[in-house]
Amino acid sequence: MGKYIVQGGNKLSGQIFVSGAKNAVLPILASTVLNSGISILKNVPMLLDTMVAIDILRDLGCDVDYGENTVIVNSKNMNKTTVNQDLVKKMRSSIVFLGAIISRFKEASICYPGGCNLGKRPIDFHLLAFEKMGININEENEIIKASVNNITPTTINLPFASVGATQNIILASIFVNGKVIIKNCAREPEIIDMANFLIKMGANISGAGTDTITITGVDKLKELVEYTIMPDRIEAGTFLCMSAITNGHTKIDGINPQYLTSLIEILESTGCIIHTNKNSINIKAPNVIKPIEFLETKPYPYFPTDLQPQIMSLLAVAKGTSTIKENIFEARNKHIAELNKLGCNILENDNTFIINGVDNLTGTTVFSKDLRGGAGLITAGLFAKGKTVVEGACYINRGYENLDKKLNLLGADIKYIKD
Ligand code: UD1
Repeated sequence: MGKYIVQGGNKLSGQIFVSGAKNAVLPILASTVLNSGISILKNVPMLLDTMVAIDILRDLGCDVDYGENTVIVNSKNMNKTTVNQDLVKKMRSSIVFLGAIISRFKEASICYPGGCNLGKRPIDFHLLAFEKMGININEENEIIKASVNNITPTTINLPFASVGATQNIILASIFVNGKVIIKNCAREPEIIDMANFLIKMGANISGAGTDTITITGVDKLKELVEYTIMPDRIEAGTFLCMSAITNGHTKIDGINPQYLTSLIEILESTGCIIHTNKNSINIKAPNVIKPIEFLETKPYPYFPTDLQPQIMSLLAVAKGTSTIKENIFEARNKHIAELNKLGCNILENDNTFIINGVDNLTGTTVFSKDLRGGAGLITAGLFAKGKTVVEGACYINRGYENLDKKLNLLGADIKYIKD
């Protein structure tokens, strides 16, 4: 599973460029099946999850080539509508292949992505929406079989602004004879990025980034499209938290600061001095981190659940008590016991976490049990005295490209050991 070994105590300083966004590239790779042609994707983060998506595409019969941060998919000869079960089990977000495949072939099957480290994570919103769109859904032995004659134009009111459900509905609607309107949809920037890719391919989508998206069906898409993936706001946010905890002074480059407004406001309240430009964020950490009375995770544009563990590590060394409430995933708490091993004083009450700031942390061996929790442990390890070993690096590598190299460039002392 690999591990990261962090020698704590170094201040981060200097400039770092963020990679392409994991949560944008995955649905965009799924979208490439739609045009029966060639998609050239640039600024692709070469992550474990990206490789899973590439393996899924190849298994479906697509030709995929990749080089440094560029992936070229040719979906012309795609000849399968069943998504490989072993690959789906590796990555929950592969569920969006369902919408893309049904759109092009009018049938698709995929297994349940399965329980995951963050809790139940059902897909009921996806399936209810599909049924409203006239898609027949049959489930047998954990396999979902979907088929449709023609997608029914309709309006879908999502019960919750689910990112994956919004993406799946958009993908399934590309060729609808009429319009599909999604209300209370997710507004995450990665939804806009996927929509922009599809629009470049010839789809007709309006409203991405607002709470109502309208897809007007088209007959055909362009057989050649080139697109540059947006930068990763969660990676950028992670570096901001890491800079803050090390009393650092860094410039995070290649990121639109607007995507991180909720984090920037919190970091400013902790005492960080932040300057933003069109495409970069400068952060200077204070000597003493101030606590945050109350912070809760919510869908974009509010504070992202994907930055909860990293901000928690920062608040764990603040002068005073902070409270975080996790509203998105009921089991996004596995990093807490591990942070406490490093000397943090964090109490849990359901999904509300009371963080009593401490002055020092001491390195030890901790276990990353999910991607962002692992990033939170590395954040704490950068502050802790001595050596912190973060086991379970495979989770972290699902979402961070060259994490050790980038941090070492900023002056950290971190090594990745592959088992
Ligand atoms: C996406 C992101 C993930 C992020 C999450 C929330 C990708 C690849 N992943 O995940 O990094 O943490 O958004 O910002 O983009 N839910 C249901 N039924 C459904 C669908 C969702 O109950 O049919 C619940 C989930 O269990 C969860 C909440 O809704 O509690 C949010 O899930 P969703 O927005 O769908 O997250 P993902 O798309 O899985």
